[in-house]
Amino acid sequence: MIIRNVHVENDEAIGDVRIDDGVFAQIGGSADSVGIRAAGTDRAGVNGGRAAADHRDGTSAQVSRPGETVIDGQGGVLLPPFVDPHVHLDAALTAGDPEWNETGTLFDGIRIWSERKKSLSVADVKDRARRTIDMMVRHGIQHIRSHVDVTDPGLVALHALLELKSEVEQYADLQLVAFPQEGILSYPNGKALMQRAVSEGADVIGGIPHFEFTRDYGVESLKFLVDLAVKNDRLVDVHCDEIDDPASRNLEVLATLALENGIGDRVTASHTTAMGSYNDAYTYKLFRLLKMSGISFVSNPLVNMHLGGRFDTYPKRRGLTRVKELDADGINVAFGEDDIRDPWSPLGAGNMLDVVRMGVYAAQLMGYSQIMDSYKYVTYNGAKALHIDDHYGIEVGKPANCIILNASNFYEALNENDEVLYSIRAGKVIVSTRPHVTTLR
Ligand code: FE2
Repeated sequence: MIIRNVHVENDEAIGDVRIDDGVFAQIGGSADSVGIRAAGTDRAGVNGGRAAADHRDGTSAQVSRPGETVIDGQGGVLLPPFVDPHVHLDAALTAGDPEWNETGTLFDGIRIWSERKKSLSVADVKDRARRTIDMMVRHGIQHIRSHVDVTDPGLVALHALLELKSEVEQYADLQLVAFPQEGILSYPNGKALMQRAVSEGADVIGGIPHFEFTRDYGVESLKFLVDLAVKNDRLVDVHCDEIDDPASRNLEVLATLALENGIGDRVTASHTTAMGSYNDAYTYKLFRLLKMSGISFVSNPLVNMHLGGRFDTYPKRRGLTRVKELDADGINVAFGEDDIRDPWSPLGAGNMLDVVRMGVYAAQLMGYSQIMDSYKYVTYNGAKALHIDDHYGIEVGKPANCIILNASNFYEALNENDEVLYSIRAGKVIVSTRPHVTTLR
């Protein structure tokens, strides 16, 4: 396959991309742009842009071979597929059932979900999750990490999503987190349910220490779940300090456990919204540990902005972790959508452009180069959190997974919410979109 007429990762020049046997064979070069790729046009600060540049020659035209599939990229921007590193597929599309979350608090969301959970069936979860994944794939997502509530003696949602995982693998890969929504120590048989979830196939171990009854329970839950991950060779992704309480300091415990076990690259702290309320002196000290630990962060700007600050009158906090500061310190931060029309968010379309747009506003990352580079939060940084970065990215020899957006660069795509013209996975087109046409009269 040859893809013609694309701006590879915001490159100003138009180029072509060749795919052989499902992997990238050549990146750059075209009849229209031979030799005009200027040095240093890759976006500074985007990990993959720099890495990929080493493998683009930019000097020779690519000629299609007889019988070869030729895709016209129409001058669009070619990026690696979007990654959603944090979503709850088991709860998706349940908003309003059995009731709407009218207070907009995390805790009312948990209460309403606890009611809805009683009527879950494998068919119900699979149906809603499949429709949600379809939405996500149409918007260019190919890699998904879904938390799955395992505070359920029947583990119904986990069984449903394990089935679905293999059914959708041709167009999306799914990591499933054993997520104890109602706590590990604070829910009957919580530890045993986590162990069962792992033995039945969960890829990642989750937690929710700030929701446990006591701080001691929170700490014990973290020790338990990290131990479970180490013993079973699993990744870790904890809902950590998702509360506007400056005294919620489970993050320092998680980072210390990651450091001492040498598993920082396999550990993610999700939300960490309490960090938005920590004082600067404590945060300064904390950042040293965070950097040493090597853990990743996932911020969920849409849902954090919606649920955060709900107990404040004024001044009202943003309820977001310190995205800009983590990023500036070289700590990996990705963005997730978190909730798609469920008890925690009544809105959601499975579109990472919505997530990035809110993220750059809320984290005040609105410089032009920051906006241009902001795709990293839903591509490379997400891939690193998912621990799939060794086979992810626009680079010769890597699996030919990519998307082409109907815009010449990411700034334009973000402004216009442009279509995914193509999503290509292992060298095969899995999504194609005909751009809409509007006529002004
Ligand atoms: Fe979440």
